Amino acid sequence: MSAASQKTRVLTGITTTGTPHLGNYVGAIKPAIAASQDPTVQSYYFLADLHALIKCQDPKRVQESRLEIAATWLALGLDTDTAIFYRQSDIPEIPELTWMLSCVCAKGLMNRAHAYKASVAENEAAGNQDPDKGITMGLFGYPVLMAADILMFNSHKVPVGRDQIQHIEMARDIAGRFNHLYKGDYFTQPEAVVDDNVATLNGLDGRKMSKSYNNTIPLFVAEKKLLKLVRKIKTNSLEPGEPKDPATCTLFQIYSAFASREATSAMRAEYQAGIGWGDAKSRLFEMLNEQLREPRERYLALMEDPGHIEAVLQKGAERARAEAAPFMDRLRHAAGLGRFV
Ligand code: TRP
Repeated sequence: MSAASQKTRVLTGITTTGTPHLGNYVGAIKPAIAASQDPTVQSYYFLADLHALIKCQDPKRVQESRLEIAATWLALGLDTDTAIFYRQSDIPEIPELTWMLSCVCAKGLMNRAHAYKASVAENEAAGNQDPDKGITMGLFGYPVLMAADILMFNSHKVPVGRDQIQHIEMARDIAGRFNHLYKGDYFTQPEAVVDDNVATLNGLDGRKMSKSYNNTIPLFVAEKKLLKLVRKIKTNSLEPGEPKDPATCTLFQIYSAFASREATSAMRAEYQAGIGWGDAKSRLFEMLNEQLREPRERYLALMEDPGHIEAVLQKGAERARAEAAPFMDRLRHAAGLGRFV
């Protein structure tokens, strides 16, 4: 076996519908970049832009988000000589594999997908005659496309949020079914990796930071806007001088996710000593701004140079297809779609 094939293959996708925020960085981007630096790992990170079409039919938003997310990963230091960084839509083998997998995947399995079931439940709650109202085949088959993403590269590990565990289980199920039907060890069984040590950040209103709650702090907003947003973070009505509880405080949570251990202990002491909310917010802003200044500059420069980002992604697609195309050939053969000679 070659050295490359002995590496642990770690793969994850980012749906390109939003603008990256502090929560994405702490919860996904930062650990992924760290994992990619492990010499025993080959990482595959991609922009899940085919998945984006399921949720977002605003072409401008999809296009913008793809560029923003690519620029963000590069600005934060992803080394694309090591990690294979690509756009899902640049790999035609993925939709092809999606079809093959669709043909071995039980419809009943998809009926049980959380995202689909939630949409049906909403329709039922709203008293709609048709429980499938507004549900596209894209949404229904979403886990099959995700299985193709994962199985295409025989990924061992898939770092995801809790909400995605079911999809990895489905990918395992589909992989097993294909292997069994076509009598071969075509696909590796992927494993979901959910890191409990990775913080889920809260947003401006104290709920989980999420685009759907409209409570995010985008990673690379201008300094002034960053200050404004930090000032908006919800706090309680304790006065300066009264001791405050860091454990239940969004401000402190964000602070500790970005600051050094020493700075975090110092802040904890300030809470006990009754730091006022205005001061705590100033401290948070200063620290965040300090940490984000350099990557923000790189991000802005990258956003001005889409040609460079395009070239990086093309190179990534070439590397990904160097694996996907021959594998897809093998799978075609397996299913009876090989060349005659
Ligand atoms: N569905 C994932 C999400 O919304 C994104 C995704 C698409 C993905 N394909 C993937 C994640 C493959 C891991 C592996 O977060």
